[in-house]
Amino acid sequence: MSVHAEQKAWSVPQLALARESGRRLTMLTCYDASFARVLEDAGIDLILIGDSLGMVVQGHDSTLPVRVEDIAYHTAAVARGARHPLKIADFPFGADASPEQAHANAVRFIQAGAAMVKLEGAGHKLATIRYLVDREIPVCAHLGLTPQSVLTMGGFKVQGRGTSAAERLRAEALAVAEAGASLLVLEGVPAGLANEITAASPIPTIGIGAGPGCDGQVLVLHDLLGIDTGHRKPKFVKDFLAEGGSIAGAIRAYADAVRNGTFPTAEHSYA
Ligand code: KIV
Repeated sequence: MSVHAEQKAWSVPQLALARESGRRLTMLTCYDASFARVLEDAGIDLILIGDSLGMVVQGHDSTLPVRVEDIAYHTAAVARGARHPLKIADFPFGADASPEQAHANAVRFIQAGAAMVKLEGAGHKLATIRYLVDREIPVCAHLGLTPQSVLTMGGFKVQGRGTSAAERLRAEALAVAEAGASLLVLEGVPAGLANEITAASPIPTIGIGAGPGCDGQVLVLHDLLGIDTGHRKPKFVKDFLAEGGSIAGAIRAYADAVRNGTFPTAEHSYA
């Protein structure tokens, strides 16, 4: 266990307190114990065991092939490496198709060491959020460019552009919070809309390609380290390795930049 082992681990109620105090939340994806130790030592608040592992670890073209077993395996590995950051396990495609199925899978993730689960979308997922929260399982919602919708969206495309799409996203953001979610990831959303959603949201927002106005930021670890995963890099990605000088330095540089508001900039945001 790393240097923060003596500190109190992040808990779900602390997320709202961090927001109230104006402390921006730092989140990164991670999939193994060694990197989890590095993230913890660099002071990262939240670790997402994302289904992005399908693309950056397994080499698929989308997140759709990821299985429940994969997320449970990587969650357990991350949990062995880091105690202090809040660990969030991502439902892979289809694993949250019904409230009951989501609950059975969420129990596996919690038992593997997660403190929260993340699911994409609103609509019929609202019932699942309620079902999980009623059963003491904290939920992070994920709206905007939801990669599991790649088939219906016809690619990875910025969402919420135009009046009716923006209105729908605003309504979904309020609905997931009302259903009981404690955190909201906004991905691939115009910065101005993300600001409005954040201002109206009763729960903290975490942006990725959603401009600087969210309550925190998340990146895929491989993108922050400039690793060529064979996929096109979206404009919100920044390679922090050059300025950080080392892997640990890059992660610290990212955390500092999120906290002091110098990342992301307009260059990493959509209009
Ligand atoms: O799976 C993942 O890494 C994610 C982030 C991009 C938010 O969902």
